[in-house]
Amino acid sequence: MTNAEIVQKTADYVREKFSGEGTGHDWWHMYRVWQLAKTIAAQEKGVDMFIVELGVLLHDIADWKFHNGDEEAGPKAAREWLSSIKVDESVIQHVEEIIRTVSFKGAGMASSMKTLEGKIIHDADKLDAIGAIGIARTFAYGGANNREIYDPNQKPELHQSFAAYKTNGSHTINHFYEKLLLLKDRMYTDTAKQLAQQRHDYMQQFLDEFYAEWDGER
Ligand code: ADP
Ligand code: NI
Repeated sequence: MTNAEIVQKTADYVREKFSGEGTGHDWWHMYRVWQLAKTIAAQEKGVDMFIVELGVLLHDIADWKFHNGDEEAGPKAAREWLSSIKVDESVIQHVEEIIRTVSFKGAGMASSMKTLEGKIIHDADKLDAIGAIGIARTFAYGGANNREIYDPNQKPELHQSFAAYKTNGSHTINHFYEKLLLLKDRMYTDTAKQLAQQRHDYMQQFLDEFYAEWDGER
């Protein structure tokens, strides 16, 4: 198989697996992040697009959130798929490493993506968590997990460990403070930094409007 055929086969596999998923981690998330990754990569030099495309398509293949908190489920599922279509071991290892590192681990936890390909995937994934799409996804996730939209008595927490972040069960508005509003300062590439600023401002406006409506001011 050529690299293009491997990417196509992987896209087909992921589309099949994630169509109709209801938490905002559906096929269209993978599709949008794939397109964003291409937009970001176009502005960078020396990118291995084969790694970017495989990594992006497989980055949520078995997220810990849906596998009892198991952080190795994703890398393992990616390896199984890529081995089944005879992808080189070096490519598999790079993709595994990216999937292991891409997930947000809490407000106090720094991200440590090493390679340019990983940074591009990280930025594309985090862009899809903010802005208008980010707002839609976060309430979809909250609803699917029986979380309340908002409770003024429950304040956000800036988690200092992955374990604390993982087990928190707060309302969805808190997720903006615990993660979404922090993302613009965590982008690696200049392209993503620019796109993130616009999306960030939009979320901030949404929150201002939300609180005004909450208290019956308008
Ligand atoms: P990452 O890929 O950065 O690890 P996740 O898969 O944890 O991100 O989350 C992706 C999206 O799912 C978030 O940006 C958000 O929209 C939604 N989400 C995850 N956790 C929560 C939560 N606790 N409350 C509301 N939405 C959430
Ligand atoms: Ni994702």
